[in-house]
Amino acid sequence: MNFYDSERMMDLLKPHGYILDDNQDDADIIVLNTCHIREKAVDKTYSELGRIRDKIKLRQQKTGKKSIVIVAGCVAQAEGKEIIKRSPWVDIVVGPQSYQNLPELISKVDPINNNKHINIEFPIIPKFDHLDIDINERSSSAFLTIQEGCDKFCTFCVVPYTRGAEYSRPLTSILEEAKKLVDAGVKEITLLGQNVNAWSATGKEKKNWGLGRLIQELAKIKELQFIRYTTSHPLDMDIELIEAHRDVSKLMPYLHLPVQSGSDKILKMMNRKHSIIEYIKVIEKVRDYNPQIAISGDFIIGFPGETDKDHQATLDLIREINYSQAYSFKYSSRPGTPAVVFFDHVDENIKRKRLQEVQDLLRLQQMQFNKKSINSTLKVLVLKKGKKINQYLGRTPFNQSIYFNSNYNNLIGSTIDITVTDAFQNSLAGIINSDKNI
Ligand code: 5AD
Ligand code: SF4
Repeated sequence: MNFYDSERMMDLLKPHGYILDDNQDDADIIVLNTCHIREKAVDKTYSELGRIRDKIKLRQQKTGKKSIVIVAGCVAQAEGKEIIKRSPWVDIVVGPQSYQNLPELISKVDPINNNKHINIEFPIIPKFDHLDIDINERSSSAFLTIQEGCDKFCTFCVVPYTRGAEYSRPLTSILEEAKKLVDAGVKEITLLGQNVNAWSATGKEKKNWGLGRLIQELAKIKELQFIRYTTSHPLDMDIELIEAHRDVSKLMPYLHLPVQSGSDKILKMMNRKHSIIEYIKVIEKVRDYNPQIAISGDFIIGFPGETDKDHQATLDLIREINYSQAYSFKYSSRPGTPAVVFFDHVDENIKRKRLQEVQDLLRLQQMQFNKKSINSTLKVLVLKKGKKINQYLGRTPFNQSIYFNSNYNNLIGSTIDITVTDAFQNSLAGIINSDKNI
């Protein structure tokens, strides 16, 4: 989501004459877009700000000009004016719901008075109403935020506090942005939301529309070829969305469905609002409707009170589901969340050992999943050039990275049938099936 927000910030600033520069040294504006989901985010932000201060000093010595330094995102939201207190060279602190005001905030920065601007409101008029702006060039795959915030209040999670209550972006605004993206050359859209499958059409719009219907509608855009969405909550996997995995060929056969733990006791402590059996039933149903679907997930290892038995239950669940790939993290206390005061925090060494076991098993499953692809022919969206001569990098429908060679020099954005020849831990290798489909 931060990637999406960063791109939108660029869209906002382009009409004011700014262009993207990956090199901080020469930049007039440096934006640090931060994430607060797991531990060390705050420390990382402050240490990066230290590096930025040194760069500004250098630049000032060379040119006499100071860069405008902006801290955006969820650390900005959580820390507010503390950032300016600890890093007085920061000019603007802007939260994830307020970055639509960036052009105005930047115009107010006055290097002589060295005034500071903090905007961490949750505005009544949602930011998307201000983001009806031109879209800069995009790659062949783009993100589109359709939903933000969360009302689920898992006890480990900062999102309900940093991103606020659940908000569904209006249908018309989503469709307009999707069309703009496609006009800018985008072939694949990943719909984003902290609880993306809680999206529903609101207001005067058709009230019974959920994510499944939205996907059907987006699939009508002719030049749009691939649709994905992330991240979902098991409770919001309704039948329409599951049916879309059977009926909408443009919807990719990949589902990222976090469960966090394999133990009902821990799920309860986490306030996940569903049991293991309910999670398994959802996956079974999705597989019933689309047998080839690749399943991904998130796991938190070492939540307070997690015993070895709970940990074994997590390993059992992973074995039962058989993930194509999944993310796992050591639990870290987040300020202001209910779990901070829970007893029985798990020893760091035990957490590390359990995480290793979970990751070893997930890696094994990912390798097996990738190996199964060998000799199959997959429809691949070409994303960019690889590091080697004539090499390209693409993405398979199952969200695997795939490398292949071609002498053609303009394949980016094309969809090509690739036959998989080899499989590795995090990628595949393949050859073009036939020149006919280029
Ligand atoms: N500790 C560890 N992992 C966390 N996540 C969210 N909060 C925490 C935390 N306090 C993980 C969850 C979530 C993913 C985005 O980040 O697995 O699904
Ligand atoms: Fe956080 Fe997801 Fe739980 Fe919401 S559903 S509180 S975003 S982990």
